[in-house]
Amino acid sequence: FESRLLDGMRVLITAGPTREAIDPVRYISNHSSGKMGFSLARAAADAGASVTLVAGPVNLPTPAGVERIDVVSAQDMYDAVLARTAESDLFIGCAAVADYRPATVVEQKIKKQNDEMTLTLVRNPDIISAVSASESRPFTVGFAAETQDVLGYAKGKLERKKLDAIIANDVSVAGIGFNSDQNEVILLTARGEQALPRMGKQQLADALIEQLAQLLNSTDPA
Ligand code: PMT
Repeated sequence: FESRLLDGMRVLITAGPTREAIDPVRYISNHSSGKMGFSLARAAADAGASVTLVAGPVNLPTPAGVERIDVVSAQDMYDAVLARTAESDLFIGCAAVADYRPATVVEQKIKKQNDEMTLTLVRNPDIISAVSASESRPFTVGFAAETQDVLGYAKGKLERKKLDAIIANDVSVAGIGFNSDQNEVILLTARGEQALPRMGKQQLADALIEQLAQLLNSTDPA
């Protein structure tokens, strides 16, 4: 048998949005479909890895051979990821995690009141920063979804979150990014950058996994 790029590797991937409850019937979320993260999970499994996919609420089938853990909120995703960080060699944070959640979840459906209402939000924990700060950290790869100064903000996140690589995604361009079938990204490390042109998300995921496997193998002393 031909040996594959990620044989023997344990890969942990997050995908999709998170949902932050306001009351029993309402929530705050975003347009992530999970397609990019699920494509990465499939690509990593095809490359021989044992893959765990922590998925927010999405409507997608689980790729063959992938272990899937469904979560709802950012806190749920944090707990599911941090419980598995130590046993992972590679972490890819593709989920669009809500940065804030309502300060309190109201127990009963909120009734209409005045013309204006104010919702107080509090910060959610940063999952990928916790992964990269953990003991025996996996090779940690983030995404940066940006609408302006894409490379500048992505570099900032690479440094601030102490990542090994970041995948910059310009989500202001029509036809790529959130919920589309195609995507176009720039893979950034401290050493350099590589643009991957517009293509289907599965093809892009295959290319990204190949690049990440090379980075991983070049930093692995074994
Ligand atoms: O799901 P699709 O419809 O296929 O769309 C794909 C995508 C556009 C969602 C994906 O390609 C993408 O860019 N994902 C990252 C989205 C995002 O929220 O990025 P960010 O720049 O806000 O976050 C930066 C990094 O920190 C990400 O790796 C994110 O997972 C992580 N993060 C953010 C907040 C938080 N509380 N915890 C985190 O771990």
